[in-house]
Amino acid sequence: MPSTQGQTGVLINPDFIAALRDARHVCVLTGAGVSAESGVPTFRDSQHGLWEKYDPQQLATPEAFEEDPKLVWQWYRWRRELVAAANPNPGHLALARLAELVPRFTLVTQNVDGLHQRAGNSKVIEFHGNLFDDRCCAEGRLVEDAADADVPACPRCGANLRPGVVWFGETIPDSALDQSFAAAADCDVFLSVGTSSLVYPAAGLADIAKENRAMVAEINPNPTIRVAAYDFSIVANAAAALPKLVESLAT
Ligand code: OAD
Repeated sequence: MPSTQGQTGVLINPDFIAALRDARHVCVLTGAGVSAESGVPTFRDSQHGLWEKYDPQQLATPEAFEEDPKLVWQWYRWRRELVAAANPNPGHLALARLAELVPRFTLVTQNVDGLHQRAGNSKVIEFHGNLFDDRCCAEGRLVEDAADADVPACPRCGANLRPGVVWFGETIPDSALDQSFAAAADCDVFLSVGTSSLVYPAAGLADIAKENRAMVAEINPNPTIRVAAYDFSIVANAAAALPKLVESLAT
């Protein structure tokens, strides 16, 4: 598997560009790394990863919410403020452009920051939900008009509201799972961007693509443990590699 990183920035293997050019269907999976250059922390990067500073078991599990909903809401409000102040970076914008350049494009994200949508991708499969959604704990439905409170209540039934994200130990929404698995099985090119590929079932999408004879590539400045099974490894930041990819495709 050829790894590509030129001395002067990003080099994209022409065979990968050719595969993209010929692709009928491109499926992209993104992780926190694609938002890193927007100033949104990743989870596992040493020093500044979220899980370096906070224990996910204390903040991102149903049990943690059950025990101290106020603390969990404080943390998610902090994350909402952080993300609201962030902007899509050239990597997000390049993916919105890529969607226009290929016949069929599926974007699956593990991120909950909504930055792909703000960059212009209209169809985004949010594997882990969205940070800005409020969900009723009793009815399971999304709630639009929650009154602000330390622990907001559902205006319909009065139950606690929770952030509309998937927590550890929870299942991925069926529709996101079904659509993502189908896209991974159907695509001709699968591109994994900015994810440590440690969390399943998202991390298994590349395997499904590979099993269905897609060409699989990774963009990550720190090649993951999975990359040996991939066709290409682009060792670079997403904000540098994705615009280069789109530029090569568009010429
Ligand atoms: P991680 O923090 O596990 O991994 C981030 C990846 O991004 C690492 O492999 C970094 O090397 C890479 N990276 C860092 N900066 C980058 C950049 N500028 N460009 C490209 N890549 C860069 O985050 P995820 O893989 O997204 O789950 O984590 C997956 C899931 O684990 C998250 O969705 C979250 C977390 O627990 C839930 O919230 C359910």
